[in-house]
Amino acid sequence: MHFTEQDILKALSTVEEPDLKKDLVTLNMVRDIRINGTQVRFQVILTTPACPLKEKIRQDCTRAIHKHLGNALLVEIDMIAEVTSTRSNTPILSQVKNVIAVASGKGGVGKSTITANLALGLTKAGAKVGILDADIFGPSMPIMFGVEKEKPYVVESNGKNLIIPIEKYGIKMISMGFLAPAENAVPWRGPVAGKALVQFLADTDWGELDYLLIDLPPGTSDIHITLVQTVPVTGAVIVTTPQKVALADALKGVAMFRQPSINVPILGLVENMAYFTPAELPNNKYYIFGQNGGRNFATNNVIPFLGEIPLVQSIREGGDNGVPAVEKSEPIIEQAFAQLAQSLAQQVAIRNATLEKTQKVNVKV
Ligand SMILES: Nc1ncnc2c1ncn2[C@@H]1O[C@H](COP(=O)(O)OP(=O)(O)O)[C@@H](O)[C@H]1O
Ligand SMILES: [Mg+2]
Repeated sequence: MHFTEQDILKALSTVEEPDLKKDLVTLNMVRDIRINGTQVRFQVILTTPACPLKEKIRQDCTRAIHKHLGNALLVEIDMIAEVTSTRSNTPILSQVKNVIAVASGKGGVGKSTITANLALGLTKAGAKVGILDADIFGPSMPIMFGVEKEKPYVVESNGKNLIIPIEKYGIKMISMGFLAPAENAVPWRGPVAGKALVQFLADTDWGELDYLLIDLPPGTSDIHITLVQTVPVTGAVIVTTPQKVALADALKGVAMFRQPSINVPILGLVENMAYFTPAELPNNKYYIFGQNGGRNFATNNVIPFLGEIPLVQSIREGGDNGVPAVEKSEPIIEQAFAQLAQSLAQQVAIRNATLEKTQKVNVKV
């Protein structure tokens, strides 16, 4: 039997992308079809490197081709990832595909811990990731990554000063903490902090990134407003514990991003410290902050639930010792954050395929 590229495309147009609910051909996900006798080889372009559906899509493609063109055909598929972006054109962060604000209502719920380990999870999946630590009240990335002694240096490029971010575990990062050493910590005044944030966004040599995670201060602050006024933000991730007081504050954060004048999509909710697990009894779960608080909150507020992270001693130790837990390769923790990274990448892809580009907020809010 002889067949053409058109026959292959026709077969593949019966394969649906499970998240986007359209077929792969319509979504332009099939590329570079090569036919050689009874062999066919092509690329499938995924929108996220951490695609949880990769193997399913691969199997569905092979099945569709066998069904339409016969089982004898040898099908080889190269799965390639190209992270999508719907940030509208902006001179600031022009090579950054997705800017993701990580926010929480209350402090101490693990926003920074989640940011650090999520960044590592995304990096391990093959994405290019940066972290901008914008928490003026408690910048913690330098300690969490063990780079508190380092100072980003500044180079001149085309008559402009460019900040070179610190790089650790393949992640580029910049932090308010690099500017003021802990021992002579002066509280940041709002306007100064806002200016520092704009510089970190506009004058840092971030290069090409798939995801730039912004660790925001807790609650809603001027820093949040400066962020959305300076760059189009792809979406926000809300971190909370299952506790009632944390959820009440998380709701205010959600409301702020959803305010029509701000209009930043909520990509999802992370339930941190969902339960306590002792290292020696990993199957025992103690719901010390209540059970499913975050999950139910997500359902009630129509927010995708990204996943739950247990309260584990080594996660705390990792943060304090400058080696984020994911880097220590403990299977349970690594799995939890790998899953979280997948869910987030998936929500970013869905957001980019289904919603309008985010605009920079222009009006005074
Ligand atoms: N899942 C977890 N398991 C154990 N300790 C955690 C977990 N998440 C956060 N912590 C610890 O709780 C404290 C507060 O976390 P942090 O990430 O600094 O919160 P935030 O940035 O929201 O203020 C830190 O000491 C951190 O190591
Ligand atoms: Mg923090």
